[in-house]
Amino acid sequence: MRGLKGRGVLISGGSRGIGKATAVRFLEEGCRVFICGIDQTEVDQTVAELSSAGDISGVACDVSLEESVAHLVAAAEQSLGQIEILINNAGIAWQEDFLDITAEHWDRILAVNLRGMFLVGQAVARRMVAHGKGGAIVNMSSTNGLVGEAQYTHYNASKGGALLLTKTMATELGMHGIRVNALCPGYILTPLAQEIYDPSEVAAFANQSIPLKRVGTPEEVAAAYAFLASDDASFIHGTGLVIDGGQLAF
Ligand SMILES: NC(=O)c1ccc[n+]([C@@H]2O[C@H](COP(=O)([O-])OP(=O)(O)OC[C@H]3O[C@@H](n4cnc5c(N)ncnc54)[C@H](O)[C@@H]3O)[C@@H](O)[C@H]2O)c1
Repeated sequence: MRGLKGRGVLISGGSRGIGKATAVRFLEEGCRVFICGIDQTEVDQTVAELSSAGDISGVACDVSLEESVAHLVAAAEQSLGQIEILINNAGIAWQEDFLDITAEHWDRILAVNLRGMFLVGQAVARRMVAHGKGGAIVNMSSTNGLVGEAQYTHYNASKGGALLLTKTMATELGMHGIRVNALCPGYILTPLAQEIYDPSEVAAFANQSIPLKRVGTPEEVAAAYAFLASDDASFIHGTGLVIDGGQLAF
C-alpha cells in the first residue's frame, strides 16, 4: 500500500490476535513496528518470533494507566524515532448479563477499552502535533459499537464510545494533518474469541448470522488497519469501517 514503507508504527495490544497479525502486516509493508501488550512474556515472545521479518520491538504496558502509557510512548519514540502511525488496538471482553455486571467489571472494561484508547491516542497525538508532520491513527471499535449485542453491555458501551472518540478526535486533529478512523470488525477468530466461545457455537453463529458463512481472520482486519493508515486512504477521516462478512447487512 502507498506511503507505508519506512513508517514508524505503534500497535497497542500487538502481542497476540488481531494486533499481532497487524504487526506482521506492517512489517511486510516495510514499516518499523513497536508493540505493547499487558503481558511482558507474551510481548517478548512475539518480538522474538517476528524479528526475522523486520524491525520490531516492544514493551509491556497497561494502557489504562497514565504512567504506563507515558512510558510506552517514550519507549516507542526512542525505538522508532517518531510515531507516524498509531494502531490503538488493545482491548478486553467477556460475556455477562446486564443484571449481573458489577461496578468493578464495568470499570475495568471501560478503563482498558475506552480510557486506554483515550490515553494512548492523546499521548501519541500530542507528539504528532509537536513533530508537525501529521500522522494516522486507527482506533479499534467493533460491530458492538454499532449495535447492542446481549451480554456485552460494558463492552458495547466501550466500543460505542470508541467510535465517537474517533469522530471527535478527527474533528480536532484534522487541522494538524492527523487522520483518525476506526475499525468495526464483527466476529474475528482470535485467542480472545476462542476463550469466549466454543467452536460449535461459532460455526452455528456464522451459518445463521453471517452472509459469507464464516467468521473473519486477524489478517483480514490487519489489512484494513494497513489500508486506513496508508496514503491510499488519504481522504478517509472520522469514519468507522465495518469488517463483518455482511453480518450487519440484514
Ligand atoms: N476478536 C474479535 O472478534 C473482535 C471483534 C471486534 C473488535 N475486536 C477488538 O479487537 C481488539 C483486539 O482483540 P483480539 O480479539 O485480537 O484480542 P486478544 O485478546 O487476542 O488480544 C488483545 C491484545 O490486547 C492486549 N491487552 C489487553 N489488555 C491490555 C491492557 N490493559 N494494556 C495493554 N494491552 C492490553 C493483550 O496483551 C493482547 O495483545 C480488541 O480491542 C477487541 O475488542 C475484536
